[in-house]
Amino acid sequence: MKATAKAHTNIALIKYWGKRDEDLILPTNSSLSLTLDGFYTTTTVDFQEGLTRDVFHLNKEEVFGEAYNRVSHFLELIRNISGKQDLYAKVTSHNEVPTAAGFASSASGFAALAAAGSRAIGLDLSDEELSKLTRQGSGSACRSIYGGFVEWKMGENPDGSDSYAVQIAPSAHWDVRIAAVNLSSNMKKISSRAGMKRTVETSPFYDGWLESLPKDLAQIKEGIRDKDFEKIGEIAEANCLKMHATTLGANPPFTYWHDTTMSVMYVVQELRAKGIPAYFTIDAGPNVKVLYLPEDEAVIEKTLREIPNVTNVTLSKPGPGISYLGVE
Ligand code: PMV
Repeated sequence: MKATAKAHTNIALIKYWGKRDEDLILPTNSSLSLTLDGFYTTTTVDFQEGLTRDVFHLNKEEVFGEAYNRVSHFLELIRNISGKQDLYAKVTSHNEVPTAAGFASSASGFAALAAAGSRAIGLDLSDEELSKLTRQGSGSACRSIYGGFVEWKMGENPDGSDSYAVQIAPSAHWDVRIAAVNLSSNMKKISSRAGMKRTVETSPFYDGWLESLPKDLAQIKEGIRDKDFEKIGEIAEANCLKMHATTLGANPPFTYWHDTTMSVMYVVQELRAKGIPAYFTIDAGPNVKVLYLPEDEAVIEKTLREIPNVTNVTLSKPGPGISYLGVE
């Protein structure tokens, strides 16, 4: 009753920003991401007779509180699907997502947990079923089931049966790189969950965001198909700016940006003015991700590292989907 799985993180080029169902984690829009090779989580789930509760270790330390509750609640979903309600698990996770790289580990974390947990309890889920299960741990994690370019189709059904991710193109299709630019900042955090909720409920800009999405999605898919870097970069950067604009219209208003976030944005736009194609995207935090092509890697890395208050720059290629490292 033991299985180990590995999952990589992903970065959205078209953002998921808002839920229509908070419990089932159903989004108000479809989104599209690139899975990265550099950052992953490896998780072993061991269902054992005799345990009276789940136990969770992350990077060799036992975890309690909110993070433990999210994992245990997720294992409950797996127990319910399998019908083995009385079986608790020992979960051992290791994040190869350097905290200094500024990535949220929830995408790789919940994808690895879903894969290892479902296999360990004896379920043999299709990728579609696994993506739907993973979605209920963390929305963006449902895209990490696949490698390369991935779309999370929002679906329409109230039960979530048609809300899951599909692969648009594998990682071998196109070597587009992402530099994760980490900043030193002490801002009070607003979680993606809380930020989305406030924006959906109060921002007058939210409807405009939603209206603009079908076109962004259709065009970025053409850009991926045609390997048109300028096209995907322009769409991704504009989509990120629109998402962040909705937060300025919320009540109370907020932003995830820090002054250095804006410095990085300006530097990326200056690089473009000099003829180097580079585009930025930003998630629910102050760090910036920069899209670039392999031939520009050296100049991109050097330029980003020189920005004051940038503490780390980590480079990544397109990465693979879920893999299983052992099932016993
Ligand atoms: O899945 P969550 O709750 O971590 O939300 C992710 C939200 C964004 O990172 C801002 C956008 C996205 O699509 O990943």
